[in-house]
Amino acid sequence: MEMEVMDNKFFNVGLLVVATLLVAKIISALIMPRSSKRLPPVIKAWPPLIGGLLRFLKGPIIVLREEYPKLGNVFTLNLVHKNITFLIGPEVSAHFFKASESDLSQQEVYRFNIPTFGPGVVFDVDYSIRQEQFRFFTEALRVNKLKGYVDQMIVEAQDYFSKWGDSGEVDLKYELEHLIILTASRCLLGREVRDKLFDDVSALFHELDNGMQPISVMFPYLPIPAHRRRDRARKRLAEIFASIIASRKASGKCENDMLQCFIDSKYKNGRPTSEGEVTGLLIAALFAGQHTSSITSTWTGAYLLRFKEYFVAVVEEQKTLMKKHGEKIDHDILSEMEVLYRCIKEALRLHPPLIMLLRQSHADFSVTTHEGKKYDIPKGHIVATSPAFANRLSHIYKNPDSYDPDRFAAGRDEDKVAGPFSYISFGGGRHGCLGEPFAYLQIKAIWSHLLRNFELELISPFPETDWNAMVVGVKGKVMVRYKRRRLSVNGL
Ligand code: HEM
Repeated sequence: MEMEVMDNKFFNVGLLVVATLLVAKIISALIMPRSSKRLPPVIKAWPPLIGGLLRFLKGPIIVLREEYPKLGNVFTLNLVHKNITFLIGPEVSAHFFKASESDLSQQEVYRFNIPTFGPGVVFDVDYSIRQEQFRFFTEALRVNKLKGYVDQMIVEAQDYFSKWGDSGEVDLKYELEHLIILTASRCLLGREVRDKLFDDVSALFHELDNGMQPISVMFPYLPIPAHRRRDRARKRLAEIFASIIASRKASGKCENDMLQCFIDSKYKNGRPTSEGEVTGLLIAALFAGQHTSSITSTWTGAYLLRFKEYFVAVVEEQKTLMKKHGEKIDHDILSEMEVLYRCIKEALRLHPPLIMLLRQSHADFSVTTHEGKKYDIPKGHIVATSPAFANRLSHIYKNPDSYDPDRFAAGRDEDKVAGPFSYISFGGGRHGCLGEPFAYLQIKAIWSHLLRNFELELISPFPETDWNAMVVGVKGKVMVRYKRRRLSVNGL
């Protein structure tokens, strides 16, 4: 009898286990219908729940360096309540760059910029309005406008370096940062700011900059002193620009700067931009272009001064152009500086200031790696790609960590061989940088002036990368010894 009861007990328990497993399987099939999909591998992190976030906070590039060799081109990191999927390399990132806004959008992941740029612009407006505002940028950066900006860039560089002595030592990073703020003020913010309000406006921009802390990405409205100062500065800038715009409109004077372009811009329905929108778009332009360009001009200098063969090559190019055009420099002559262009491009390949680009996915999509592995990325994931990492892939670039500007020369074209999106310092596709030509012209204008007028020598150790900055730049000072000399076309 006892035996029978025991048998029954075992039978019942067995039945219960089987039934539980069956129900669990049915439930998991119902609530996780994607389990049959080829999801990307997930990064291991400890402790559970917050381990992923802790690893991400240590630095996204560290995570990529550790996980890429183990997991390959596509992998997911659990960030508490979000999944972030990395797409590394041109084969898998094409969708990232080309997808429509309804599939992969920027607004959710870049919303933290709203208190800085201000209301009614860029990430605070619907995509249809944002597209129109990007059209205003495109028009303000057309070649006919750029030609005028270049003349101003050249005057700024001449004025700035005329204040250097006959010889001396300077922190190149500090110097180029300042020159680029002055140039950006002239070309983008306009004559009034550059000539009369430069100190006030740059102090206010400095407060906006300081209001952009790593914590601001998660909590842009946290009531901390840096955010309060940011909000006060944003308000004051709006007042300053409102009065400049009003006096331009009243005088009917027309200038060649981005401010004027934004004042004259009209939406498709005929509505002109408001003063608040013009201010917001100018702030967005400065945030997009100022640090990125000054960092790139400093890295370019550091590499040219470290590798004599490239320094000699860019000086030779200046001599050739001087033989052809004399002292003159304008948009078209800057555009002939191919060797200098490749040297800048290579510095920017190794040190893209925007190290992580993000989107929010709203629809499932699939990618195939260069090794033929397929992955399905579910909607709801944040999707990321990293110029800092993808620009150094060894299946795209030969000796990817070495400075080799000739890799972009005709015949090698390493950034084109694997197709588009191999070189992503300026992003690409649907949201590719609109200021790329402006940035190159500005950096070339500065460096051609330096090469023609100074002997230069790097006297501090080759700089390191400052990974902690929001826009990743150069750590510490970049000390340079200079001596004034005119470049002679018949020899150095
Ligand atoms: C070396 C200098 C620069 C670098 C490295 C750079 C880099 C980038 C990158 C990576 C993006 C794409 C962001 C994304 O896909 O999420 C971007 C977009 C953009 N950049 Fe630049 N940028 C530079 C200079 C400039 C300048 C000087 C301006 C304007 C004067 C500018 C205006 C813009 C704008 C308006 C966009 C947004 C385009 C869109 O979303 O459709 N950039 N930039």
